[in-house]
Amino acid sequence: MKRLVLLGPPGAGKGTQAAKISAKYEIPHISTGDIFRKNIKEGTPLGKKAKEYMDRGELVPDDLVIDRVEDRLTWDDCVNGFMLDGFPRTIYQADAFKAWLAENDSCLDAVLNISVPEEILLPRMIGRRVCRSCGATYHVTNMPTKVEGVCDKCGGEVYQRDDDKEGTVLNRFKVYDAQTAPLIDYYEKDGSIRNIDGTADPNEVFDVIVDILGA
Ligand code: AP5
Ligand code: MG
Ligand code: ZN
Repeated sequence: MKRLVLLGPPGAGKGTQAAKISAKYEIPHISTGDIFRKNIKEGTPLGKKAKEYMDRGELVPDDLVIDRVEDRLTWDDCVNGFMLDGFPRTIYQADAFKAWLAENDSCLDAVLNISVPEEILLPRMIGRRVCRSCGATYHVTNMPTKVEGVCDKCGGEVYQRDDDKEGTVLNRFKVYDAQTAPLIDYYEKDGSIRNIDGTADPNEVFDVIVDILGA
C-alpha cells in the first residue's frame, strides 16, 4: 500500500515527480490544482470560484477543497493507495484529512517533502509549459517538447498557466510560506515526513524517492 502526500513550494517538482510515482506504483495522481484547472476549463461553478483565488496566487477556501479530495479517495482506483499532490495545503486541511483517515481506518505511509530554494524556483515556473489535454509538464529549456507548443505524449496544445506570471508566482511563494510550510513541522511531529532535495535532475530526484518507497 502506498498512501502518499507530496509537499513542497510552487515549482518544487511535485507534479513532475507525482506522474512518475503514479506510473511506477500504479496509484492515481490526485492533484487539487489539476482538479481546479479542469473545472475552470469546463466552466463549472467550482471552476469559476476557484479561478478568482488562483489568478491572485491565493489558496482556494478550504471548504471547496476538502470534500472533493475525500470523495476522490473513495474511487476504486485508490485500492493500492494514492499520490496526493497539492493537498493538504493548510493546517485546517491536514486536520480534516487526519480525521477522515481515522474514520476510514486508514493512514499515510509517507509525506515526501521536496525542497528547492526560491531563486531556483522562479525560473522553473516562468519557463513551465503544460499540456491542455493531458496535463503533462514541460519546461522551455530544462524539458522542452520535441515540437514547440505540442505535447510529446498526446499531441495536445502546450500552454503557460495563468498563475505562472512573475507577479502571481511571487505571491504564491508568500502564501506557501505562510500557510503551507507549517505542514512540514506538522508531519515531522507525527514521524511520516521524508525530506528530499529537489534541486537535482528530475530522474535523480525520482531515484531518491524510489530508494525511500522501495522498488
Ligand atoms: P498547484 O497546481 O498545486 O500549484 P503549486 O503547488 O503552486 O505547484 P506547481 O504545480 O506550480 O509546481 P510543482 O511542484 O507541481 O512543479 P512542477 O512539477 O510543475 O496549485 C495551483 C493553485 O490551486 C494554488 O495556487 C491554489 O490557488 C489552488 N490550490 C491547489 N490545491 C489547493 C489546496 N489544497 N487548497 C487550496 N488551494 C489549492 O515543476 C515546475 C517546473 O519545473 C516545470 O516546468 C518542470 O518541468 C520543471 N522541473 C520539475 N522538476 C525539475 C527538476 N528537478 N529540475 C529542473 N526542472 C524541473
Ligand atoms: Mg503541480
Ligand atoms: Zn498531452
